[in-house]
Amino acid sequence: MKTKAIILAAGKGTRFKSEKPKVLHEILGKPMIFYVKLAAEWIKPEEVIFVVGHKGRMVEEAIDCERCKFIYQEEQLGTGHAVYVTEKEWEDFDGFLLILNGDSPLVKGQTLKNAVEYAKAMLKYEGANIQTYTESYRNEKFAGVVLTAKVPNPYGYGRVVKDKEGRVIRIVEEKDATPEEKKINEVSSGIYIFYAPYLKGVLNRLENKNAQGEYYLTDVIKILGEEEKYIFALEIPDYREILGVNDRWQLAYVENILKTEYMQFWALNGVTFHNPDSIWIEFDVDISRDVEIFQNTMLCGNTSIGSGTVIEPNCVIRNSKIGKNVRILANSVIEDSVIEDGAVVGPFARLRNHANIGRGAVIGNFVEVKKSNIGEKTNARHLTYIGDADVGKEVNIGAGTITCNYDGFRKYKTVIKDRAFIGSDTMLVAPITIGEEAMTASGSVVTKDVPPKALAIERAPLKIIENYVEKRKKRYMSDGENKRD
Ligand code: UD1
Ligand code: CA
Repeated sequence: MKTKAIILAAGKGTRFKSEKPKVLHEILGKPMIFYVKLAAEWIKPEEVIFVVGHKGRMVEEAIDCERCKFIYQEEQLGTGHAVYVTEKEWEDFDGFLLILNGDSPLVKGQTLKNAVEYAKAMLKYEGANIQTYTESYRNEKFAGVVLTAKVPNPYGYGRVVKDKEGRVIRIVEEKDATPEEKKINEVSSGIYIFYAPYLKGVLNRLENKNAQGEYYLTDVIKILGEEEKYIFALEIPDYREILGVNDRWQLAYVENILKTEYMQFWALNGVTFHNPDSIWIEFDVDISRDVEIFQNTMLCGNTSIGSGTVIEPNCVIRNSKIGKNVRILANSVIEDSVIEDGAVVGPFARLRNHANIGRGAVIGNFVEVKKSNIGEKTNARHLTYIGDADVGKEVNIGAGTITCNYDGFRKYKTVIKDRAFIGSDTMLVAPITIGEEAMTASGSVVTKDVPPKALAIERAPLKIIENYVEKRKKRYMSDGENKRD
């Protein structure tokens, strides 16, 4: 049986109080709707149809997908109307429609797959009598499945009203429910599997005579029932899968659930977390075995961490590739950069905008590296800025060295060749090249290229004045001056 998925994402998300469409609010670095699509893809649908409306262009641009189609619902008249506007896409489709809410990101692909299997079985067999099954048999009374769950707090969800045989008679929304109905704790997930030929022609019969004046998708159940076509409830054991995100507090709650789930996955794959609650790991991050991560660290965007690497507390690593056996010491911030195997970075290091740190190199405390290549086993251990530089291997960069790469208009390049020795507090005024094994003397402002093995020294002669302190004291005392009080 073929399937098509429909994801409803046209709503304003008023309760988010946001300029951004609700479904684009992020969970672990990905828009909420990304997770819904990811789950839907488990059933291998022929296509995924997104119903967009409010700032629909933005939503369309955020979803990157080959077999996706975007249908615009100009006015958001309700979930029933949202599915109705897609009818042309499936009016001749002999298969299942999986309908999902764009604001319910926790549902698992496996759950959807099971539900489709269940629907297939229901459509083909009458009851459980598998022996009488023939390929041509079709259960005329089966119209689809709604995924439900028993939730601790059903507030805000559609309550599922069933008959004695477990068929759903109707789903009643919070605002339309009687006090009795409000007590029902089995709620609709907003996820349905409809047999498309039975849904055809039903949606335009929906009415909006309800508390919200909307065309509810849930009302098709009643209409179908009148024709003796039934929707069956399939209960999901873990209610958390159906949690809807209607405001930012629910967003935070759901994000936390997903984060914990992913971290458990990494932990079971050989990653050690110290105080996992305080650690933040986004969806696109990849972590190898025997990585150890300490508290308050954030791994964001497209980041990968090689095996044996240790990341100390309070680090932020974004869109970066970290090799094996690297040590990132506390309070370092690393963005859009690469660190090769065995390097040591931090504490308090800052790497950004394509800082590439070679094998076994050391980038120490209060060192900033921007758009630079640092060669193998090169050391810059303290208080340095390296920007727009190409640094060779086994170079030593003394404390306080600065590549002066910007003249207020343009950026210039610094080249430091292998095994050069840059004395402490050298100012390298770019563009400049320091040759192989060349040296610069501490405190020099170097404005010319230094040939290999040469020394660049720029220094005013040092004067020593003997007994200076005593002479000075005498001078002031004789003036009777003492301003120290
Ligand atoms: C909906 C269900 C409710 C279910 C709950 C599960 C209805 C009437 N109610 O309620 O039974 O328990 O989800 O989370 O279906 N949307 C559109 N166009 C519209 C209206 C909504 O695309 O005209 C989209 C929204 O963007 C959202 C989804 O449909 O992604 C659900 O709409 P929402 O208003 O959040 O419905 P709920 O009140 O949560
Ligand atoms: Ca909702």
